[in-house]
Amino acid sequence: MKKILVTGGAGFIGSNFIKHILHCRDDIFIVNLDKLTYAGNLENLIDCVDNKNYVFIKGDIVNDELVKYIFGKYEITHVVNFAAESHVDRSILGSEIFFRTNVIGTNVLLENAKVFNVEKFVQISTDEVYGSLGKDGLFKETTPLHPNSPYSASKASADLAALAFHHTYNLPVVITRCSNNYGPYQFPEKLIPLMIINALNDKKLPVYGDGKNIRDWIFVSDHNIAVELVLERGKPGEVYNVGASSEMKNIDIIKLILEQLNKPDSLIEFVKDRPGHDRRYAIDSNKIKIEFDWKPSFKFQDALKETINWYIKNQNWWERIISGDYLQYYKSQYTDRTVI
Ligand code: NAD
Ligand code: DAU
Repeated sequence: MKKILVTGGAGFIGSNFIKHILHCRDDIFIVNLDKLTYAGNLENLIDCVDNKNYVFIKGDIVNDELVKYIFGKYEITHVVNFAAESHVDRSILGSEIFFRTNVIGTNVLLENAKVFNVEKFVQISTDEVYGSLGKDGLFKETTPLHPNSPYSASKASADLAALAFHHTYNLPVVITRCSNNYGPYQFPEKLIPLMIINALNDKKLPVYGDGKNIRDWIFVSDHNIAVELVLERGKPGEVYNVGASSEMKNIDIIKLILEQLNKPDSLIEFVKDRPGHDRRYAIDSNKIKIEFDWKPSFKFQDALKETINWYIKNQNWWERIISGDYLQYYKSQYTDRTVI
């Protein structure tokens, strides 16, 4: 039986990962360590509460004493580190917590993984560590790191720390670098859920800059199947890019959302650009495709429809969120985001 410490498992991707694993595997016991920041939500995991192969612990990955206790008590054999401050705009408003959680927290996990001799440490990273592309080209695993935001700088730092633990101590670290995820349970500060919810509420849809920035979108379950494969078969010291070759301009996604919801384009509002806004991300996933026969199953337009329907059906989930802390953030973010 693998005993996996999943960190950040109450967030968007982590909660989808835990549900996927508990649904299809009975040889994995999961300890979910999550601080329950504004982005962590135990409602995402309501179906797992009674599962005999699952336990939740509220806590901070920076807390070395707690992390050590968990490794010992549960005889952890594997780590999947999803825990992070994950939103670029928030990192622009204040970077400290990003470096604390994403760098120091990862280091605490790495140190304990080393002491407890884990069999695999999967560091969940991001394509943003590569920086921004021009019109052509794709991010490969060998593309030099060039992070542009405090968020991506903190993620790149964690990647370097993880690789150094492999090089120096032979810790079996594997890194995934995935492109933009979307799907159920994504916190409504990110582009797709924010636009769906604003459109449902007939509120303005704030488009940064000219709306022509490009992201390479992947449905969350396709990402998580790749993470499972890397957990099983990833070679220590290696990096695996994950993406679904679904490049889209932001403005085109927003128009698709409005069209499906039967809402007018007049809801679109162009606002001041995000400082340091990366222009284009696009991923070359050939390595994971060739080595593990992974391929994405979801097409962007179909999975976007599925996602929109999920937000329509799960209004209670997001209404509770947008009436709380999120509103505070949303207001502070837009004091500086004047309409252009
Ligand atoms: P999220 O913000 O939805 O969830 C993050 C989770 O981590 C939350 O449950 C939060 O409570 C928890 N957390 C934060 N700080 C913590 C701490 N100090 N200790 C313990 N738990 C803590 O993020 P997400 O979108 O699910 O992203 C998960 C991971 O995937 C992140 O590492 C992110 O960098 C990476 N990633 C995200 C995307 C994307 O498109 N969302 C793409 C590629 C990689
Ligand atoms: O590429 C992977 C990364 O994708 C992850 O590592 C991050 O955790 C995740 O947050 C995401 O980062 P982005 O900055 O690409 O995602 P976000 O949803 O914030 O923005 C997507 C694009 O939409 C980006 O070009 C900015 C734009 N945008 C975003 C928001 C929130 C807008 O135009 N308006 C908005 O209100």
